[in-house]
Amino acid sequence: MKHTELITMEAPELLSQPQERRKLQAAAKLLRDGGLVAIPTETVYGLAADAFNPAAVAEIFRAKGRPQDNPLIVHISSLAMLPKLIRGELPAGAAQLAQRYWPGPLTMIFPKSSLIPDVTSGGLDTVAVRFPSHPVAQELIRLAGVPLAAPSANLSGKPSPTTAAHCIQDLMGRVDAIVDGGPCGVGVESTVISFAEEVPLLLRPGAVTLEQLREVLPQVQVHDAVYHQLTGEEKAASPGMKYKHYAPAADLILVDAPRDAFVQYVNSHAAPGVYAMCFEEDIPCLRVPYLSYGPSGEPAVQAELLFEVLRQLDECGAVRVYAHCPSKDGVGLAVYNRIVRSAGYQIITLEAGKEY
Ligand code: TXA
Ligand code: MG
Repeated sequence: MKHTELITMEAPELLSQPQERRKLQAAAKLLRDGGLVAIPTETVYGLAADAFNPAAVAEIFRAKGRPQDNPLIVHISSLAMLPKLIRGELPAGAAQLAQRYWPGPLTMIFPKSSLIPDVTSGGLDTVAVRFPSHPVAQELIRLAGVPLAAPSANLSGKPSPTTAAHCIQDLMGRVDAIVDGGPCGVGVESTVISFAEEVPLLLRPGAVTLEQLREVLPQVQVHDAVYHQLTGEEKAASPGMKYKHYAPAADLILVDAPRDAFVQYVNSHAAPGVYAMCFEEDIPCLRVPYLSYGPSGEPAVQAELLFEVLRQLDECGAVRVYAHCPSKDGVGLAVYNRIVRSAGYQIITLEAGKEY
């Protein structure tokens, strides 16, 4: 067991105050010395280490129980840090996306420079880079003076953490410090797009939406794994795709249905341990225990609540969960992608006006 220091930040606007800065300087020193620090970002909490220090990065994999071939995202706090990380010129399309969406919840993949240790890139020839917008994350990278490799700060197999409490649940005693910067605003992990292929390829949907990417680069393609389970022959462009994503202890089933059909179906399957993971509007008609993940028309709220709700379902001891399928538009695609993976791609489609 390690001693894990808990560092609580007050409001981000106070970051310029000496007392707050001293806290972050202590965290930055841990990082420079090869330590592991869980840090808030605008998407989810990350478990950070010096991206250039192979021994420190190896510790991330150990602390999370993460498979060695699953590469990490390298976080920067200025565009000036980018040339050292990538091989060759920044592709014009990537420069345009950076201009529009960085800092923010967007990760871009490039051929990697020789400075990136193999352990950071999971043995791949490419590196994923993100410039987060969270003020605490930015300041920590600046103070550490090195790019930070950081996967989500959960134990492998758990939902990504969106609060410091989630990080404490998973990582207390396994890391050097946890920086509490309050709940994450976005709630799902960053959008991942690869520039290592001929055409820019969306590997993971997030808060920078497909529609927004195509406003800048109409040619963006979407990897099949965003919607469907990969078959044996299909190539996982991202090692993360082939690993089972978080699955709750309960059997989670995605129900693609209009409200009436969803409610009727779930009510007719009421049994001990059966829960609905529903929208706000479903609540008045439900006759089974439920957890709501937001209003049906507000995918940004759904994204923010999703991982907390998935953790709560485990805590409730749910045995079977019927999740009301979100829309796939905008940020909804990210919400859909996380839920369908949690459901192991089990989907039931129901029509309006039928009896279930
Ligand atoms: O929002 C986020 O992206 C958070 C915060 C902490 O920044 N990080 C995060 O990291 O979600 P992680 O490791 O949980 O997810 C990174 C995903 C994995 O699926 C991994 O396989 C993929 O990105 N990835 C990383 N580097 C890659 C590369 N070089 N090529 C293909 N996929 C890569
Ligand atoms: Mg993760």
